[in-house]
Amino acid sequence: MAAQGDIRICEDAAVLAQQTADEFVRLAQESVAARGRFTVALAGGSTPKAAYALLVSAAYHDRVPWQQIDFFWGDERHVPPDHADSNYRMAREAMLSEAPVPAANIHRVMSEQADAVAVATQYEAELRSFFKTPDGQFPRFDLVLLGMGPDGHTASLFPGTAALGERQRLVVANRVEKLDTYRITLTLPVLNNAACVMFLVTGEDKAQVLKEVLEGEPDRFPSQMVKPVNGRLLWVIEQRAASLLHANRQ
Ligand code: 6PG
Repeated sequence: MAAQGDIRICEDAAVLAQQTADEFVRLAQESVAARGRFTVALAGGSTPKAAYALLVSAAYHDRVPWQQIDFFWGDERHVPPDHADSNYRMAREAMLSEAPVPAANIHRVMSEQADAVAVATQYEAELRSFFKTPDGQFPRFDLVLLGMGPDGHTASLFPGTAALGERQRLVVANRVEKLDTYRITLTLPVLNNAACVMFLVTGEDKAQVLKEVLEGEPDRFPSQMVKPVNGRLLWVIEQRAASLLHANRQ
């Protein structure tokens, strides 16, 4: 495995969605067979939407052990769950509203609360309670799905923000000055404790930063700081986003 993990280049966004859905099903079936459950932290933004929709389509629906999956979010905007910017709303509309997931298995961030720090504290408590995580330790997700922004951010870990340095907390309210907002985000110790982390990257606007993330100086971008300590890192990249990578990667 390359330092930055395994890389899969997909000819277009539809193939990326299919590769993502295939990997999700494989991991979910494997986890449920081994441990009776599958815990996943969903990515927000727009890229994962097609994969989420595919999972509830006729082609995949019956292959997903919906009743044994617990859904969490890698990050959330500080907005109510019905807001257009809500990552929960995106996943609900694209997938969860069509899937037989018990309500108790959907662990959304209670981001409607005015105090972002309280939102993060509550989500951390939810994680600790569900995973039975002792103080000083970190929950281990079976799968963390992540996107990456044109600035190399992932989840809501943006360049130059305080959350990047957090090594104790599981969840923080991260002030993102350039967006003039707080974002609720899992921290790097949680992301890096996952059994599998999958980055999903589409779009020509990501090509330059992706080349720097995968082939440039290390630890310059938040996405470069995602390095599962005892897990698998997989990059699923659309050809347009991979266009500047070394030829041997394409
Ligand atoms: C969010 C995401 C964020 C996203 C990237 C890529 O809340 O927006 O967690 O990290 O994954 O910005 O977004 P796109 O998939 O829309 O390009």
